[in-house]
Amino acid sequence: MSEQFHPQIEPNRKLSALAGLAARYGDPAHSVAQGGHVRTIAAGHYTVAGLSKHLHLGDFVGHRSPRGLHLGEVVRVEPELAYVCPIEPGEPIAIGDTVIRKGAFRVGATDSWCGRTINALGEPIDGLGPVLAGADRRPIVTTAPPSMGRRRVEQGFRTGVKAIDIFAPLCLGQRLGIFAGSGVGKSTLLSMLARADAFDKVVIALVGERGREVREFIEDTLGDNMAKTVAVVATSDESPMLRKMAPLTAMTIAEHFRDQGENVLFIADSITRFALAIREVATAAGEAPIARGFPASVFTELPKLLERAGPGEEGKGTITAIISILVDGDNHNDPIADSTRGILDGHIVLDRTLADEGRYPPINPLSSISRLARKAWSADQEKLVSRLKTLIHRFEETRDLRLIGGYRAGSDADLDMAIKQVPILYEVLKQTPSDRPTADAYADLAHALKAANNAGNANARARA
Ligand SMILES: Nc1ncnc2c1ncn2[C@@H]1O[C@H](COP(=O)(O)OP(=O)(O)O)[C@@H](O)[C@H]1O
Ligand SMILES: [Mg+2]
Repeated sequence: MSEQFHPQIEPNRKLSALAGLAARYGDPAHSVAQGGHVRTIAAGHYTVAGLSKHLHLGDFVGHRSPRGLHLGEVVRVEPELAYVCPIEPGEPIAIGDTVIRKGAFRVGATDSWCGRTINALGEPIDGLGPVLAGADRRPIVTTAPPSMGRRRVEQGFRTGVKAIDIFAPLCLGQRLGIFAGSGVGKSTLLSMLARADAFDKVVIALVGERGREVREFIEDTLGDNMAKTVAVVATSDESPMLRKMAPLTAMTIAEHFRDQGENVLFIADSITRFALAIREVATAAGEAPIARGFPASVFTELPKLLERAGPGEEGKGTITAIISILVDGDNHNDPIADSTRGILDGHIVLDRTLADEGRYPPINPLSSISRLARKAWSADQEKLVSRLKTLIHRFEETRDLRLIGGYRAGSDADLDMAIKQVPILYEVLKQTPSDRPTADAYADLAHALKAANNAGNANARARA
């Protein structure tokens, strides 16, 4: 870490005021101006003596070494000692080194950040030159707008992904999770959703991905859309502190755009890796695990981050959040999946069996739910979707029976209809990233069903 990040950090007013007082009155608080010093050093953290009274959880401190100033975050405060997780592990650190308080970490996004890829500290990593901070510098740890002051979520929008627009349509300001095991299609679906044209800005947090995947995601899949996108990246080889900060930095950038009145799409891939990073940091600080190895702070940080998305106050824009959740061994009840599901206004479930059949995106239409679908559907659409779900259900529950020849056509009108229409529906829902986003998924579906019907009638006439 070098000195160049100083402008990102709030000037320490309290500290300089204290130092001023100390100078005037010869107060012992004078030592604050010099900061504290390193008392103990462990694998994931170090402790600082002499600053406890002046530090808050989440504050940043700077540790001075001969190589410069290294940032760390305060993760625990005791009367005599403060525990600090360094942002970059491996920095040279020695007992007695000076540590100074820096206050909250801030980022100052501007429109010029669009098209850029930055790290969790707001520094460019795309080789395209400096990223300049604007005047609107916000702490990356903050609270959501008061819920009563927020606008209501009620304006539907099209994502361009047919399976979602038909079965789980979304509203601006909604919070949606995409749940799946690894390699099933989460990142690909997110990149398709990032192209929805309802948004003025897109902010993407890529957490814990391999470097190669990040490049692929940004260069191949985002393409032209990168012009209105800011990507915040913390790859798997970076410190847990940076992986933990990336979604917070991204959300802060999204809030800046929202407060300019814009509709922002916030994407985090994956929130599970964010949770794992919080766990790593918390464990290093000595927090005890409570659920499957996860400490309590994981379950408070997740809602805190997601609450920040949603509609803004009157006159401001919205933040629609779409996050991916890695479900461990396809177990949809692991603690992270469980606790996030409760905070979200909808979830998309990706099924490995659909992916294996080549039915991409592998969205399960029966288990994917948007809690705000009613606001996005018309009455007719709602009726149609309910009918389609019944047909899919009939089709799937009789799959084995039909395979062994246990069903004769004509004995169940509903099932006959399902056998005819569901395969057409499945075909319509297929979409790859190279397909253009669909303007009207219902029209596509109606068109396909009508074409199949006409072909069927023509065949019947030919046979007659
Ligand atoms: N919509 C899609 N169309 C075609 N292939 C897809 C689609 N979604 C996923 N895939 C295939 O599945 C692979 C894994 O997808 P990915 O999005 O990286 O999964 P995850 O993020 O869940 O690990 C991709 O490399 C691609 O081959
Ligand atoms: Mg992925």
